[in-house]
Amino acid sequence: MLFTDSGSGLAAELAAELGGEAVELNAELAKRSDVVVLAVKQAKLDQVALELDAARAVVSLLGATSLETLRRAFPEAEVGRVMPNLAVEVRRGVLCATGDLSPELRRTLEALGRVVDLDDAEFDAATAVMGCSPAYFALAVEAIAEAGAAEGLDGELARELVVETLVGTGELLRRRDPLELRSAVASPGGSTEAGLDSLARDGAGEAFAAAVRASLERMRGAA
Ligand SMILES: NC(=O)c1ccc[n+]([C@@H]2O[C@H](COP(=O)([O-])OP(=O)(O)OC[C@H]3O[C@@H](n4cnc5c(N)ncnc54)[C@H](OP(=O)(O)O)[C@@H]3O)[C@@H](O)[C@H]2O)c1
Repeated sequence: MLFTDSGSGLAAELAAELGGEAVELNAELAKRSDVVVLAVKQAKLDQVALELDAARAVVSLLGATSLETLRRAFPEAEVGRVMPNLAVEVRRGVLCATGDLSPELRRTLEALGRVVDLDDAEFDAATAVMGCSPAYFALAVEAIAEAGAAEGLDGELARELVVETLVGTGELLRRRDPLELRSAVASPGGSTEAGLDSLARDGAGEAFAAAVRASLERMRGAA
């Protein structure tokens, strides 16, 4: 693998960590690569595309950047678009994909998690749902664990209890409908029902919907 950066030294760090080589120029990287994985900020696309004009195949990780925009930037290359979420770090990510992805590249992506084929037009909404939500789940873990600690649990223990519950709930939700799962936990008149009623009174559902809308507005440059 070959890496470049804009001067931070990250390329050399990545080459040392993952194996490979940091190269000075994007043009050299493009000439020597079968596939270029593009992970710069959107605003850098045009500049970097000029430097990468020898690229034969490009996979873009850029948020809110359509396949059409990417194909205009790389008219000579095969162009794929992928949106991964943070869980690729533990190979349990979700990777939304569209465009030109060779079978070999697809197999590589599949090693990082679940690859989901989408229409390009669906990417922004998908990103707001699968790209941002790890942060929302992390917020929920923090809040629930802190509430447990406030009731006398050791802080680390409270966090472990919530995290392991989240992992197991994720597995359950692969098999069961969310509403049905909620009903299974919340027996009538019981403590979970009291908690869910409290969340509903505080507008938890609407708060998540508003968070997704806010992310989308930011992606579209409106906020
Ligand atoms: N953060 C996420 O979880 C995530 C998830 C999915 C997709 N994305 C997308 O990934 C892209 C990068 O986001 P980020 O949060 O990782 O931003 P970031 O931390 O700023 O990383 C951008 C990287 O691009 C490098 N770079 C900038 N100009 C360059 C150039 N001319 N040639 C070579 N490298 C150059 C930077 O180099 P230096 O190290 O020298 O600054 C930096 O390493 C965005 O388009 C974002 O939408 C991010």
